[in-house]
Amino acid sequence: MIRIRCFQSDDFKRVVEIAEEGKLNQDPMIYLELSKLFPDGFFVAEDRGVIVAFVISIMMLDGGGRIFAVAVSKSHRRRKIGISILNHALEEFRRKRVPYVQLEVRVDNFAAQKIYEKLGFEKEGIIPAYYSDGTDAILMKKYLQQSFQPHTSGMYV
Ligand SMILES: CC(C)(COP(=O)(O)OP(=O)(O)OC[C@H]1O[C@@H](n2cnc3c(N)ncnc32)[C@H](O)[C@@H]1OP(=O)(O)O)[C@@H](O)C(=O)NCCC(=O)NCCS
Repeated sequence: MIRIRCFQSDDFKRVVEIAEEGKLNQDPMIYLELSKLFPDGFFVAEDRGVIVAFVISIMMLDGGGRIFAVAVSKSHRRRKIGISILNHALEEFRRKRVPYVQLEVRVDNFAAQKIYEKLGFEKEGIIPAYYSDGTDAILMKKYLQQSFQPHTSGMYV
């Protein structure tokens, strides 16, 4: 039985393990900072009390949302936990009437691209050498409010 709940500081060690397993290559200290800035955007999924996934979603200055990180423990992949926890973050954005959500994904991360496409994200452009190893990122966006008209196209700010 999977339960999704908000992140608590005691979860940090396990979240870092899952991030490392998922090769996210982000500074874990940023996770702690973001948990303070956006406490209602950081969720973990538990399986019988053990954390098996997390998502960090944040607000951008222009009022858009951003998926900053998501990962599922290897032992629990392909069980729809990724899609459930991402949907949870999207629901929270919808509740706040956030017009759109964006994210960056490595051009070689096909699993992540698939799951985002399944959730309705569309490819908007490429960000060259976005990652520290020189790999490009694909910028993906999903519009949440029907009436929202984007005033930029494919721009990354
Ligand atoms: C990407 C990731 C979060 C997916 O989590 P997951 O719980 O395994 O995904 P789900 O079971 O919810 O998959 C939902 C759908 O996404 C797609 N998908 C997920 N993993 C996939 C894979 N390895 N290959 C192809 N499609 C995949 C499928 O369409 C899948 O539906 P299906 O199982 O009915 O075919 C997980 O693989 C992961 O943690 N990867 C490492 C970290 C990472 O890359 N994070 C994203 C950084 S941008």
